[in-house]
Amino acid sequence: MQSHLPPQHRALLLRERGADLQLETLPTPQPTLGTAVCRVLEAGVLSYHREIYNGKRTYPFPTPIIGGYSSIGRIVAVGEDATTLTPGQLVWIDCVIRGRDDPSNQFLFGIHDGMTDGSRKLSRDVWRNGSFSEFVKAPLENCIALDEVRLCQELGYSVRDLVYLGHLLVPFGGLRDIKLQPGETVVICPATGGFGGAGVHVAAAMGARVIAMGRNDKELARLKAHVGKGLPSATIETVKMSGDEIADTAALRAFGNIDAVLDLAPPAAAESTHLKSAVSALRYEGRCSLMGYVAQPIVNWQFMARNLSLRGKLMYERNDILLFVQMLERGLLPRSPDFVETMSFGLGDWKQAFDAAAEFTGIGRIVSISP
Ligand SMILES: NC(=O)c1ccc[n+]([C@@H]2O[C@H](COP(=O)([O-])OP(=O)(O)OC[C@H]3O[C@@H](n4cnc5c(N)ncnc54)[C@H](OP(=O)(O)O)[C@@H]3O)[C@@H](O)[C@H]2O)c1
Repeated sequence: MQSHLPPQHRALLLRERGADLQLETLPTPQPTLGTAVCRVLEAGVLSYHREIYNGKRTYPFPTPIIGGYSSIGRIVAVGEDATTLTPGQLVWIDCVIRGRDDPSNQFLFGIHDGMTDGSRKLSRDVWRNGSFSEFVKAPLENCIALDEVRLCQELGYSVRDLVYLGHLLVPFGGLRDIKLQPGETVVICPATGGFGGAGVHVAAAMGARVIAMGRNDKELARLKAHVGKGLPSATIETVKMSGDEIADTAALRAFGNIDAVLDLAPPAAAESTHLKSAVSALRYEGRCSLMGYVAQPIVNWQFMARNLSLRGKLMYERNDILLFVQMLERGLLPRSPDFVETMSFGLGDWKQAFDAAAEFTGIGRIVSISP
């Protein structure tokens, strides 16, 4: 467990919900059995990060807490039980924590402490902190090795580009959960946001035809052009949400068989009728993954009459991360500059980073903090 960790490091600490994050000097986390300590290179910022910490989104979490969620980092020190991970390795540091003795106790470090007594205990006592810090400690299984030579030299991604995994993995989790197959047709809605846009990238890379639904014509056109440049063989259709449930269903049905739907609606879209339209357009035995907010009746007699299935999904499974990293390493995703544009900020500029993240949204766009 020998390491070259400084005794102290800088981190953005939230002392209580609604307060400003403070750049503080704190003891550097030290490796223990089952863990790694990584130097954070690029920490992802969510479009709604400010809403989480100011309490507008009522996500439960303990305080004080170091902000952030997943990140790209380099391993500095590992616990004695590490068998493969070694110092110097580039890794994806994933924020999804699951109880080792009961994986149903799941939550996202830096973001919320989950829905169970077990997840709240694990968050409170061990894994509450996110990646807005110079060093982060994570379970070994949350440090996913990245082939730096393949990704950064042969495929030309920068380390900063790789923080886009934070967006790409989420829709991959939902699409894998509903078993999207190559050649199938999937509706992604709303597709003009960060996670929805990433969902279009991912579904196209999985070999599906994508129908991207959104309110914003201009962004739908940018999305189609963006995917066209990075994945020229992809089939991307767009449907503008009109707010008329029946008309939107008809617009979707005009594309023929629809096998699957992935919804990533934010709270502001929870009452939008687009999801009803998308579900109505599903074929017999169609599948729908709900990863966003829904505040309307979706399940009706059609579910029974057409053998439809509906699954909720928080994030993704660890195996999904491993598979997605393999897809990226095989070159199935677009290369730079058609992959992602990243706006990056220092730890002290977190307010600007939060402002930028709320605005700089949509396919191929992400904001990071580089500690
Ligand atoms: N299940 C999970 O594990 C998981 C993980 C991550 C995120 N999420 C969810 O994904 C959501 C989206 O996050 P994001 O960062 O992608 O947000 P974002 O970039 O702000 O995108 C929001 C999207 O929602 C659309 N929208 C907003 N209000 C709408 C309305 N009234 N009617 C129809 N569409 C509307 C936007 O369309 P315009 O372009 O027209 O504004 C945009 O397409 C989050 O709120 C989060 O809860 C879930």
